[in-house]
Amino acid sequence: MLTDRFGRTIDYLRLSVIDHCNLRCVYCMPLSGLRHSTGKELLTPDEIECVVRAAADAGFRRVRITGGEPTLRAELVEIVWRVAAVPGIEEVAMTTNGVLLPRMVDDLADAGLKRVNLHIDTLDPERFKRLMRFGTLREAWAGLESAIRAGLKPIKINAVITRGYNDMDVVDLAELTIENDWHVRFIELMPLGGGECAQVARDKFVSSAETRGRIEAELGVLTPVPRRSLSDESINFKLPGARGEVGFISPVSEPYCDGCNRMRLTADGKFHLCLLHDDELDVRKVLRSGGGQEAVEALLRRAVAEKPSGHQLADGVSTLNRNMIQVGG
Ligand code: GTP
Ligand code: 5AD
Ligand code: SF4
Repeated sequence: MLTDRFGRTIDYLRLSVIDHCNLRCVYCMPLSGLRHSTGKELLTPDEIECVVRAAADAGFRRVRITGGEPTLRAELVEIVWRVAAVPGIEEVAMTTNGVLLPRMVDDLADAGLKRVNLHIDTLDPERFKRLMRFGTLREAWAGLESAIRAGLKPIKINAVITRGYNDMDVVDLAELTIENDWHVRFIELMPLGGGECAQVARDKFVSSAETRGRIEAELGVLTPVPRRSLSDESINFKLPGARGEVGFISPVSEPYCDGCNRMRLTADGKFHLCLLHDDELDVRKVLRSGGGQEAVEALLRRAVAEKPSGHQLADGVSTLNRNMIQVGG
């Protein structure tokens, strides 16, 4: 098992498989788009498998497939299949906007995908368009239903709360957990990339405390659910009589860096040491200069050793080189 210099066990790999997206959420990707990696720049399924084998050897147990939007990656099913088959990997999950999910969800489940977190910021079709810009609520909802049919459990919904765009919709979202055994998680905006998205994240920030207050005022007191693990960044609750859970992910107002258990692999083959810093080590260079699993594992050990203690958002520090879409959350 790998432990970093702050005593944190790092055993969760967030694997970005592509750095573009079919939506354009205002806080994640500018309307004009961003330069995305060419086919040659992306790690191949073979290279990804090599990194995951190295990670499993070093004690990693969980993998989350992210993007950009992972369902845009042509070889996604093959990647999931290869990753899930690596000895030592106990869970493969994915974070997606769900729009393209129906056409591939059964193949993904057959390949070994265990569950999905779906990004749905609002249940209001008009406001969905304003915030997530491309795609429709109807399509995202069809994605969620397809995940249920495929038996991917538990269903988690991620909603990033953005003032003036969807802060008025948090009660409706939380209400979903009364009838359904889903987890609805409210996420505080993080500024990444230094451009217009980072500015939106700063200007439209809503704290979890405010979101929680709105929900409790309408739906009753939230009762804490015991923490399943120290590294779960979501603090979870139940509404009165609810089947599901409401969670708050509060990286800005209540940083959870002390419990961090993550390493990130970007789609273009870099170990990204902390979501909110630019520090990276180049895995692709190692792989493409003849390095095998051992060399990759050595680089991974260095990446873990060099992980920063946490973020410095309070001092105005964040990434400048990558937007959220290029890290995958
Ligand atoms: P579960 O295993 O279902 O709990 O998934 P997860 O919460 O680890 O993954 P998901 O992709 O759903 O992430 C939810 C939100 O948490 C996203 O907005 C991420 O950006 C944020 N997040 C995930 N990991 C980190 C992290 O290491 N640091 C910070 N600051 N935020 C993170
Ligand atoms: N701040 C916080 N969360 C974000 N996400 C995307 N951009 C941001 C941001 N600026 C979330 C999406 C997705 C997850 C991977 O990251 O909701 O579910
Ligand atoms: Fe870990 Fe960095 Fe996220 Fe903090 S901000 S939880 S250290 S990845």
